[in-house]
Amino acid sequence: ASLQMFVDELPQMPKLHGYSKRYGLPMPGSLTIGMFHKKWKFHRDLPATTVFAYGTSQNTATVPGPTIEALQGIPTLVTWQNHLPQSHILPWDPTIPTAIPKTGGVPTVVHVHGGVNEPQSDGHALAWFTSGFKETGPAWSKPTYTYPNIQHPGNLWYHDHALGLTRVNLLAGLIGAYVIRNPVLEMGLNLPSGPIFDRHLVVFDRSFCKDGSLYMNFTGDNPSIHPQWQPEYFGDAVIVNGKAWPYLKVQRRKYRFRIINASNARFYRFSLTNGLPFIHVASDSSYLPTPIRSQTILLSPSEIADVIIDFSTSLTNEIVLTNDAPYPYPTGDPVDNLNGKVMKFIIAPGNPTRPDNSKIPASLVHSPAATRDGIRMTRYIVLYEYLSDAGTPTHLYINGKRFEDPATETPESGSTEVWEVINLTEDNHPLHIHLAKFQAIKVQELVDLEQFKDCMATMNNATACNVTAHVTGTLLDIPDYEKTWKNSVKIQPGYQTTVVVKFNLVDTNAPYPFDATAEPGYVFHCHILDHEDNAMIRPLKLVS
Ligand code: C2O
Ligand code: CU
Repeated sequence: ASLQMFVDELPQMPKLHGYSKRYGLPMPGSLTIGMFHKKWKFHRDLPATTVFAYGTSQNTATVPGPTIEALQGIPTLVTWQNHLPQSHILPWDPTIPTAIPKTGGVPTVVHVHGGVNEPQSDGHALAWFTSGFKETGPAWSKPTYTYPNIQHPGNLWYHDHALGLTRVNLLAGLIGAYVIRNPVLEMGLNLPSGPIFDRHLVVFDRSFCKDGSLYMNFTGDNPSIHPQWQPEYFGDAVIVNGKAWPYLKVQRRKYRFRIINASNARFYRFSLTNGLPFIHVASDSSYLPTPIRSQTILLSPSEIADVIIDFSTSLTNEIVLTNDAPYPYPTGDPVDNLNGKVMKFIIAPGNPTRPDNSKIPASLVHSPAATRDGIRMTRYIVLYEYLSDAGTPTHLYINGKRFEDPATETPESGSTEVWEVINLTEDNHPLHIHLAKFQAIKVQELVDLEQFKDCMATMNNATACNVTAHVTGTLLDIPDYEKTWKNSVKIQPGYQTTVVVKFNLVDTNAPYPFDATAEPGYVFHCHILDHEDNAMIRPLKLVS
């Protein structure tokens, strides 16, 4: 029997302020956040689950972790501490590039996803550390990270990034939301605000064993090559803010939801059962120029939607948030009754307790448009999947290169580039580039794809394989709600996605206020975590 849906109330994760106040003025803030081994109740009828959780103490640690609230322009310092046990609670695989400490323990390192941060604070996959900093990876340099919060207000999140363990560390619970606010700007916008009407929904899928423990396979599809690794983790329960299929009681008024897809591999295509639209105001990391209405939202792993739902116009009192994205996306299995439902909104009878004075303004925040003007460089980024003789995936690479191979993407700090990203696999891959802000401007199909694939299999050079003669197929629409600066972009199979990538402060094109060329550099990767770990990830080294 499966778990009953909509019996647990949607939790709000604890909030931590990434700033302090002196004489009423905001000042830099210092936080200490630990990773703890504890039990977490994912559902009323499921025994408590052993997890890894972020928090300021063992007792207060949650899955997802506390939401970090930062202010634009006010630095946040975080000392990340590992209090995890000697061995992992989930099976992992030593045959993929993996952090393996000699003295045991669980390697961890925290990345603020979407953050414009110096390399030493970016959470490089090799900057890992075990409990009490007993052992550290080759790129580790310091225990306290600095986040200057200089970018525009927007939606970020933080999560683990240890080499080869990202999929299991996130699956164990090491995720949390991070938001950069600008109170003056946001007061002017007058969107629904405050802790009740402006909420995070952190969504991920998990499977559980009867005893409540997280289920993850112990045996891979190609055990003679990779004993444990499988190409995608999918769970049948959908979890929001740490509860399986929760409900939220709402009033007949507008709410703002910042929806983070923190799943390992699952895409969601959300809609509301009563046909209410989503009104997008922002995306991953920045506001949209104008509000955009949509009936559905397609959200790949690591993407964030920032939407208003206006319950005052609802014709029903109960509304289910549903998902109909096949998995893997786009050509995998259809959803079933379990993973096709996410959560329920229940409208309380009567009028809102206070009049809803929030507005959906005609215009939001204008950022510079993404164009090819002034670009310094065009690069081809090609996504490959490799199969065993049995036809099952053994690993994935970017540009046919291993993570350990020297950096080939070496953009000039302060510049803007165009990345032509070509997907030769069957799956859609969410591309995430650390530090940069980027957006897709064109998505075009490749014709004679098999011929191009054959050429690339031998030459591994898009220009030599006459790429421009192949990129002549149909154009795919980019949804209007994605037309802003983002930190993850979906890369459609069989298509070339043209992405404008900014290695500067987007609003002014100014260089970064830190040395972005410092060691250990950055990374870019697919955000399907099972792909990232094996090893759809490459170093990104900025130069001056
Ligand atoms: Cu969200 Cu490199 O990660
Ligand atoms: Cu991928």
